[in-house]
Amino acid sequence: MNQIDKNKLPNHIAIIMDGNGRWAKEHGKQRTFGHRNGVISVREVVEGAAELQIKYLTLYAFSTENWNRPKLEVNTLMTLLVSTINKETKTLIKNNVRLLAIGDIENLPSKVQKELKGAIDKTAKNTGLALVLALNYSARWEIINALKKISVKVENQEIAAKNVDENLFIENLTTFNIPDPELLIRTSGEYRISNFLLWQIAYTELYFTNKLWPEFRKDDLKEAIINFQNRERRFGKTSEQIQTI
Ligand code: FPP
Repeated sequence: MNQIDKNKLPNHIAIIMDGNGRWAKEHGKQRTFGHRNGVISVREVVEGAAELQIKYLTLYAFSTENWNRPKLEVNTLMTLLVSTINKETKTLIKNNVRLLAIGDIENLPSKVQKELKGAIDKTAKNTGLALVLALNYSARWEIINALKKISVKVENQEIAAKNVDENLFIENLTTFNIPDPELLIRTSGEYRISNFLLWQIAYTELYFTNKLWPEFRKDDLKEAIINFQNRERRFGKTSEQIQTI
């Protein structure tokens, strides 16, 4: 009855994967158990998005604020990243998935950077789904970083301050060349954006689900897409204007 319309797919889906810790607690386990099971959900959504021929999928895997977590948890997350990227690169290549990363990548541990860059290079020519990992990412960091880059250009008189516009700003974000997400999903029943893609979600449809991240499956992704397809996106116009296009 409620089927996905292949002609109205979101071009870019972004996900705030939340609830790993609570899921682990529900199972009487350590938080790290939740993260390990979260990887299964990552695999599910990547597979689901590729099957549906979605163009971009961005996953909030590690925020700049996540460094404040207990050392054991941070280390587990870093190890999990390295091992998952290492294990999954072959599958990404086989499925024509191109890996990208956004965030303050240069300040990640060198082991993570090396694994990440290797996988990015190996999948660079793929033309299917672009899987974007947000790592050591925060939107405020990204915005300030863009501002700094532009300030240097102004200071060096490469551009005049009066010529700073939206396009120039976008070119200096880590998401340059990646279209804005059309759908943002957050799991675990929290209704927050948590410093994720603040510039890019100006017109994004937001979808919140109570499912905890380790429980999230392909069918949940499909449900979010169907929900998205039943919305009217007006971009500041009236409903009547949209319907006559
Ligand atoms: C949020 O749950 C989840 C994270 C901070 C990390 C997400 C990481 C993974 C799923 C594993 C690695 C990812 C990839 C791409 C290989 P939480 O810990 O904040 O949960 P809580 O709110 O219940 O405490």
